[in-house]
Amino acid sequence: MKTVAQTPVPALAGRLKRVAPYLAMDVLAAAAVKERRGESVVHMEVGQPSAPAPRPAIEAARAAPDGGRIGYTEALGIAPLRARIARHYRDAYGVTVAPERVVVTTGSSAGFVLAFLSLFDAGARVAITAPGYPAYRNILQALGLEPVVVRLTRADGWIMTAEAIARAHAEKPLAGVLAMSPANPSGTMIGREPLAEIGATCRRLGLWFISDEIYHGLTYAEPATTALASDDDAVVINSFSKYYCMTGWRIGWIVVPERLVRPVERLAQNLYISPPYLSQVAALAAFEATEELEAVKASYARNRAMLLEELPRLGIAELHPVDGAFYVYADVARFTNDAVAFSKRMLEEAGVAATPGADFDAEEGGHYLRFSFAGSEDDCREAVRRLRGWLPKV
Ligand SMILES: Cc1ncc(COP(=O)(O)O)c(C=O)c1O
Repeated sequence: MKTVAQTPVPALAGRLKRVAPYLAMDVLAAAAVKERRGESVVHMEVGQPSAPAPRPAIEAARAAPDGGRIGYTEALGIAPLRARIARHYRDAYGVTVAPERVVVTTGSSAGFVLAFLSLFDAGARVAITAPGYPAYRNILQALGLEPVVVRLTRADGWIMTAEAIARAHAEKPLAGVLAMSPANPSGTMIGREPLAEIGATCRRLGLWFISDEIYHGLTYAEPATTALASDDDAVVINSFSKYYCMTGWRIGWIVVPERLVRPVERLAQNLYISPPYLSQVAALAAFEATEELEAVKASYARNRAMLLEELPRLGIAELHPVDGAFYVYADVARFTNDAVAFSKRMLEEAGVAATPGADFDAEEGGHYLRFSFAGSEDDCREAVRRLRGWLPKV
């Protein structure tokens, strides 16, 4: 018998095994299949505004191409945008930031890669929260860094604290800490004092402090404080995706200490050359759209109020304080301990897409669902109507 020679198949990188899928995107894909069958879905799974980019941004992008030429820019971004972002720190927070310290990025997602690569050597331990934004863990692992999960508690108001950081560092040394406020998925916020304490603790212990401020502008009681107000050495991450309604434009920024500017520039040059020119032009104009953007935020506030009133009536009562962002992170233990299967059934049978908590918290997320209320008010009301007909009566 003739033997067929085995051709060697090249293996995938071992580190890929450590990178989990982003379940919110998997739910989005399942919802798209359902929609292609002609069935309707109310989308509450992905954290993206349903409102378009603000009008001045779109107009600026339309007017921009000079004979259709859209070229590379400086790796750190165009100077007027860096200056405008620096001014934003003065206007919004009363904090002085030199424009040279502002790095424009392809969404905050690229900001994380730049920050992690420039701050940490392979194997470094970086504290993140559970529940928390899943890409932190996945990017850290993809880069060969070790995420150290700090479990948030109701007693701490579901926020990262300076004490929890000091405890984790004492157990086994950390190299850095990543905190966010307002938080995804919980919407909880770190106040001015506790944020300053986190910064001071990181300084005392010699750790990098990365502050994800992507939901700034979307707060419902107190405005958010930037980490830069108390800690000039913090690395701050932000984006035009959320408050500015520009997810698909892939444009964000980071503010770094002066000594990091050149290393980050070298990385940006090599990783993606420059952020997209058109998006930079549009982002610059988005700063002129406050009235339009505040109207969008007012509709989130109405969605939030409606959900916080209606969900408890449906038996979803154990809610985190939703001080900012546009999510309700709901404990659904009364209905299930398998939120992945539950969300699949909810999508199939009720036509409501939400993200299972396992995305945000591998241990406790089995009985949580995250509902995004960044959609229209009609969609939010329709979701409640469908859930009322579908959830078991309590
Ligand atoms: C907390 C947090 N940080 C960062 C991002 C990434 O956003 P982008 O890359 O669009 O700026 C998200 C997106 O949902 C988020 O929730």
